[in-house]
Amino acid sequence: MIKLDRDEAARAILARNDRGGYTVPTDRLYPFQWNWDSAFVAMGFATFDADRAYRELERLIEGQWDDGMIPHIVFHAPSDTYFPGPEVWGTRHRIATSGITQPPVFGMALRHVHEAAVEAGLPNAAERTRNLFQAALRSHRWWLRARDPDGLGLVAILHPWESGSDNSPAWDAALARVPTSTTTAIRRKDTGHVDAAMRPRDEDYQRFIHLVDTYRECGWDPQRQWAVAPFKIADVQMTAILARATADLIHLAEDFGWEAERAELSEMHDRLTAGLARRWRSHLSRFVSLDLVSGENVEAPTQACFMPLVALRIDDAQRQAVQSEIERWHEGMVVGLPSTAPFSPAFEPKRYWRGPVWAVVNWLIADGLRMNGLENLAQRIEQTTVRAIERAGFCEYFDPTTGEGLGGDTFSWTAAAYLVLGRRAKASASGARR
Ligand code: DGY
Repeated sequence: MIKLDRDEAARAILARNDRGGYTVPTDRLYPFQWNWDSAFVAMGFATFDADRAYRELERLIEGQWDDGMIPHIVFHAPSDTYFPGPEVWGTRHRIATSGITQPPVFGMALRHVHEAAVEAGLPNAAERTRNLFQAALRSHRWWLRARDPDGLGLVAILHPWESGSDNSPAWDAALARVPTSTTTAIRRKDTGHVDAAMRPRDEDYQRFIHLVDTYRECGWDPQRQWAVAPFKIADVQMTAILARATADLIHLAEDFGWEAERAELSEMHDRLTAGLARRWRSHLSRFVSLDLVSGENVEAPTQACFMPLVALRIDDAQRQAVQSEIERWHEGMVVGLPSTAPFSPAFEPKRYWRGPVWAVVNWLIADGLRMNGLENLAQRIEQTTVRAIERAGFCEYFDPTTGEGLGGDTFSWTAAAYLVLGRRAKASASGARR
């Protein structure tokens, strides 16, 4: 009974954050359409309204650039509660957008939505999937062309905002080399909505905006940006999500009998999974990103180190290592998985990506654990995520040491995660009782 009410509350958050076919992550703090938020939200909608789930993805690709990039923000309607707005980005798309991208969960969401739509018998599902599939394919081509020009099998981020994990300790060393000078006046709005202690520091924002200024001066041309980027990291989390989304697109191409697309995507998939597999470090029991400016490995222990599980089949030794490492990260925590290992000096349990638990990260990690035969750990992560949301509400993120809900509230992707993971937790609990 209580469970039912919570599902309704989750659906009510999606309805309340709906701005006409697209969903804002939360009111005021994030008043536009965000790329990876919308992909998760589409999967949440797919649990009860496949038509609305398609709309979310269709509205996102209104912002897709001619070169295939899907921007991280689409500014469908004006709002003065967020910085940096369209005037800072200065891009030239038909609809105002930002000039950088975000993790390509889109392809994964498309398969999910397609399957839900077919099951619900939604008319036009095949046609809508086909259009979105072509958009996804164009964006995957962009990723490999623009962000892996040297064929490493790893795609690079040029801005921490692209990773979605803005102030992760993974970027500390690389970001420290980015100047704090800006040509844009910084007028933060986020700290007017959320306690500053839970957000990136002012100095981080100076560097974030320095990067925006630099790329705007390149006219947002991918090659010019690549040449001058002071921040360039071949990121295992981004690559893993891209590889996983590619596998999901291959699945759709097979379903539809699109042979040329299937072959092209398979080649991409081979390149990305080979690149990822080379990033395993057995002495750390984790995968590591590569800083393309300094040539150094990024060894900071963050959630990104486990993300390759969503795309790779790991071997027995890796499986055991990952299991004990993830268990170690849970020691003394009320809720896992922390976005930074608690034993790291960089760990801050309330500051955004430096420790807090994120429901959508847990969703992906649990998926990857399950794909790799670590079902019990997957279930534990899913169940504790669901319980954390039930206790603290649909918050942006959670303090792993206390379970306290933090950041913005009434968050769309936390509601979506609840709808998807809540079902899985219920299914595994009823499986266990049988
Ligand atoms: C922000 O503004 O905090 C976002 O994460 C950038 O997209």
